[in-house]
Amino acid sequence: MIIIRSEIFEDYDEISAVNRNAFERENESRLVENIRSSKEFIPELSLVALIDSKIVGHILFSPIIIKSKKTVPALILAPLAVRKEYQNQGIGSMLVREGLKECKRLNHSIIIVVGHPNYYPRFGFKPASLFGINPPFEVPNEAFLIIELEPGALEGVSGIVEFPSAFDDV
Ligand SMILES: CC(C)(COP(=O)(O)OP(=O)(O)OC[C@H]1O[C@@H](n2cnc3c(N)ncnc32)[C@H](O)[C@@H]1OP(=O)(O)O)[C@@H](O)C(=O)NCCC(=O)NCCS
Repeated sequence: MIIIRSEIFEDYDEISAVNRNAFERENESRLVENIRSSKEFIPELSLVALIDSKIVGHILFSPIIIKSKKTVPALILAPLAVRKEYQNQGIGSMLVREGLKECKRLNHSIIIVVGHPNYYPRFGFKPASLFGINPPFEVPNEAFLIIELEPGALEGVSGIVEFPSAFDDV
């Protein structure tokens, strides 16, 4: 049985280990730590997947902004990690779906992800370029994706997304 819940203090080391295992480098575990220590951090939106009390997956959503005519708040989904030996069993999908539900419950209506164009559209993400929303760095259009959790949340919104400094190394 898989349990999805928000992180607690005792999870921090295991969350770092899951990210190191999945990405085979330090950048994403450092990103999690940097976001966690920033004032924007939303603890409810750092979710873990547990099997038999072991953390096998992790997802984090944190605030960013879209510089439109006005500044529009959004969340970035990053990182998403599932331990290698537990991949391709639906755990990543559960984390995304439960995560999006929690974002909606907390009244967040726009979520952005830089990710694989074959993976995220199944959850409703679309290329952000369709809305005239673009990243501040070079990335293929189909890998910079966005979802509105409330219909119309993106109406009249277009511009460049601004990432906090926690993302500088990723
Ligand atoms: C990407 C990842 C989170 C998916 O989690 P998961 O639990 O294996 O995914 P699910 O079982 O829910 O879904 C499996 C699907 O994801 C696809 N997938 C697995 N790894 C992928 C990857 N790195 N990029 C794109 N798609 C991937 C599989 O091909 C499969 O596709 P299908 O359903 O069309 O056959 C996980 O493989 C992982 O941690 N990868 C390493 C870290 C990473 O790349 N994170 C994503 C950053 S955007």
